Amino acid sequence: MNNAAHFGLIGLGTMGAALAMNIAENGYPIAVYNRTASVTDDFIAGAGELAGNLTPTKSLEALVAAITPPRAIILMVPAGPVVDQQIEALAPLLDQGDLIIDAGNANYTDTERRTAESQGKSYDFMGIGVSGGEEGARHGPSIMIGGDAAQWDRVGDMLQAISAKYGDEPCAALMGPGGAGHFVKMVHNGIEYADMQMIAETYALMRDGMGFDTTRIAETFERWNEGPLASYLIEISGKVSRATDPISGGPILDAILDAAGQKGTGRWTAIEAQKLAVAIPVIEAAVVARNLSAQVDARKHGADVFGAMPEKLPEGLLDTETLEAALIAGKVLCYAQGFDMLTRASQEFEWHLPMPVIAKIWREGCIIRSDMLNDMAAALTENPRDNLIFANPFTEYLKKNEAALRKAVIAATNAGIAVPALAAGLSWFDAMRTPRGSANMIQAQRDFFGAHGYQRLDGKDAPHGPWWDTQAG
Ligand code: 6PG
Repeated sequence: MNNAAHFGLIGLGTMGAALAMNIAENGYPIAVYNRTASVTDDFIAGAGELAGNLTPTKSLEALVAAITPPRAIILMVPAGPVVDQQIEALAPLLDQGDLIIDAGNANYTDTERRTAESQGKSYDFMGIGVSGGEEGARHGPSIMIGGDAAQWDRVGDMLQAISAKYGDEPCAALMGPGGAGHFVKMVHNGIEYADMQMIAETYALMRDGMGFDTTRIAETFERWNEGPLASYLIEISGKVSRATDPISGGPILDAILDAAGQKGTGRWTAIEAQKLAVAIPVIEAAVVARNLSAQVDARKHGADVFGAMPEKLPEGLLDTETLEAALIAGKVLCYAQGFDMLTRASQEFEWHLPMPVIAKIWREGCIIRSDMLNDMAAALTENPRDNLIFANPFTEYLKKNEAALRKAVIAATNAGIAVPALAAGLSWFDAMRTPRGSANMIQAQRDFFGAHGYQRLDGKDAPHGPWWDTQAG
């Protein structure tokens, strides 16, 4: 048994196993435990030469005994009650100074609660957001760390060592105390939902509106991946568009049911945005689109009752250059909203989130990694609090591509192709440049029925009314 391990890991599912291998490969001996012992045996059997840095254990007691204090034990178990159960089971076995690290996709409010609950207990607790799927966990994820300076001192080196690197910069950093790491990961996933949704909307325009086959769609994504949209999600969109169904021999995309799954992180982003009263309509639209996609029978019924949509676009109305430009604008708007939410949360919770660092650690390893994030990091370094739409090159991207976004949304609307995320982005953008909006009507209505009051444009005193003195009252 290798008792030089300071680290332990519980949960050898896909992500846990990959993370344990990554840690072992980076020279950190680690003891591992999985509830089903055969999973541990299979994991060690498949670990090859890394097995030398991996200590298999068959009980929580054995796991704890295999780690030299002060211990740091990573939980890679399903988010939710299982995390609480693991903490409860581990707590009596741990000593002062031992640290439990939740590396799952926890809701940040749970992480805040668990951090508070650890006060005065035998263990210390921190939550980290890990992005990058299995490949990232194995070879370098992006890691959004929640914790205090002492916790960072204990595990920062190891987390930076196992993280993805942008050049030689590690994509792992301290975000702030308590739930800050999981909050940033949650917003990352909200942006992920929106990015994926907007790509799916351009796919719908190409497939249904322009009559492209999957090969042409794949070629288009591949070309876009050479330009400002270069990103992991565009890259894999090209790959999935090219892939063949082993059963039918046709394109696999044509064989997949159009109902999106979700584990909840995107929904949490929308919920938290509402609590913070921050506007992230592109992300919200993406969550709604997933919800709606799952209503397969209702959509079929709608087609029967009202007539099926969509229709084909008039020949030549849209081209792939226009679509690319529309997606560039949509992407800028979506990230601007996501970063705005982080800025507002940072102020509200007094987290002092390192805005440029967030963009930097998203440049590699995570699902939303993209070339544009490098420019975002630069813009946020210059002005961490300003909305990204007011920073170059994003201001210029919007000026240049706004017309294309409008054209794509109008074309889609006319043809009955649902583009909720692109349309929500455009509408937000229009609102953001409307000095005289329509909320004066809402204020008048509120005052009419509830005497809620309003401010006058000329700054003069405005008691109430005049509704109740008039016929309207
Ligand atoms: C990541 C992913 C990862 C996972 C999501 C998928 O950053 O590595 O976001 O966390 O793929 O949980 O979420 P949905 O199942 O909600 O799409």
